[in-house]
Amino acid sequence: MATVASETLKSPRRVRGVPLLGNALEMGKDPARFFVDCYREYGPVFQVKLLNNIYTVLAGAEAANFMGTREGRDSLRSKEFWQGLVDEWGAQRTLTGEDGETHQKLRAVMRHGYSKESLKGRYPELIAATDKVIARDWPAGKLVPVLQNMQYIVTEQLGDILTGTSPREYVKDIRTTILYILNILVTRQRPRFLLKDPRYRHAKKRVSELGRRMIDEYYAGRDSRDPARRNLVDDIMEAHERDPELIPASDLILSLTGPFVAGLDTVANTLAAFVYAVLKDPQVHQRIRDEADALFADGHQIDEPDLKRLPAIDGAVMEAMRLYPIAVAQMRTATRDFAFCGHKINAGELLFVATSVPHFMQEYYPEPEKFDIDRYARPRAEHLKSGVYSPFGRGTHTCLGKTLAEAQMSLTMARLFYSLDLELESPDYQLERKTLPTPGPSMKFKVRVRGRRH
Ligand code: HEM
Repeated sequence: MATVASETLKSPRRVRGVPLLGNALEMGKDPARFFVDCYREYGPVFQVKLLNNIYTVLAGAEAANFMGTREGRDSLRSKEFWQGLVDEWGAQRTLTGEDGETHQKLRAVMRHGYSKESLKGRYPELIAATDKVIARDWPAGKLVPVLQNMQYIVTEQLGDILTGTSPREYVKDIRTTILYILNILVTRQRPRFLLKDPRYRHAKKRVSELGRRMIDEYYAGRDSRDPARRNLVDDIMEAHERDPELIPASDLILSLTGPFVAGLDTVANTLAAFVYAVLKDPQVHQRIRDEADALFADGHQIDEPDLKRLPAIDGAVMEAMRLYPIAVAQMRTATRDFAFCGHKINAGELLFVATSVPHFMQEYYPEPEKFDIDRYARPRAEHLKSGVYSPFGRGTHTCLGKTLAEAQMSLTMARLFYSLDLELESPDYQLERKTLPTPGPSMKFKVRVRGRRH
């Protein structure tokens, strides 16, 4: 239904809100819960007001499925949400903000470097990078900040595997840059004048410095590069030289530091949620430990097939992504008038596609609030119902790092729980959560390292 001829189509209903702020407060508190409540009351289409902007929300399994259809692909575009970032960095484009042919070309350039393929033969390195950070940042007897420590683990790993650079000293700068970019330029929940904040200016300068360092290192080492260690940087730099129209020099820094921006917050938040949920349930904790111990028991060199034998850990990663989705909704603009679930959506409307709504619905996940790591195994396989599980998004922009992230998260959690005896501050500890820039555990969340297990 590409064109909308029918007068029977309805206009989306506006969700009740308060003067001036509209729905900003409720949404700011718990966006996932807010969208589920609205879905229950208004159905799969409704409008929300956030300060001065009206957004149409397409929600539920209907919306997740729509994103994967031809009509969805042709009716939705990402550009507007990322243009601020592109302009701010003096670039021409970014993968996340492109659609159509250019987007496909950019994905083709980056597909290999971002995928699980890039881990081939490098699992021992991934484990070594993890061990290094565990030994340094998780001292026995201490309470440690989980989210921050996860950010250090993830940066070390992604740096090693994807880019060959280990940017530990840039973690705070990457974190600050992500915070400002997402809040001010992408989700626009904070005013633009904050871009003048010296903390952001400094962090941005440092991230640019990291990008330039990666370019310099690439040129310095290109003739002595080992083809078996080809990584995303090689793919991007070669594509730049081959097709400077597709990836001009102005876009290199954003493209090269992309893995840290895309991977840091997403993986770190999910893993921090994993740690909380697993420590909260002694039985689950024991199963995770047993599985991790079996994985590393005989000291053999871990390879990809080993990761297929981790049903409890994989189930816990999937539950962490279901209950603590880092992308509650995907932001898009309507490229044309179209019909969705009996409603007319007009060209130019700003949209949230709330694909995480089914994650919290009893209809699909019995006892949806329960952290139940056995949901995903057959015969239950609750996530396989159409459109009900979308932690990595849907449609053309589906996470390019998905397979890499899955392997990285399972292995990291296996190693952490194999290495350390962890406990919550107290058994009745309740997780404090944040919503900005990415929903997830708060930076204040700490666990106690009771000691080393192995
Ligand atoms: C818990 C882990 C992760 C989750 C839940 C996640 C989720 C997502 C989601 C929802 C999107 C789609 C955004 C949209 O449609 O607007 C996305 C895109 C993307 N992700 Fe991930 N991600 C994760 C980890 C990673 C990692 C580790 C990397 C690579 C280092 C990565 C690289 C990317 C890239 C490059 C895109 C852009 C794809 C495109 O625009 O075509 N992600 N991710």
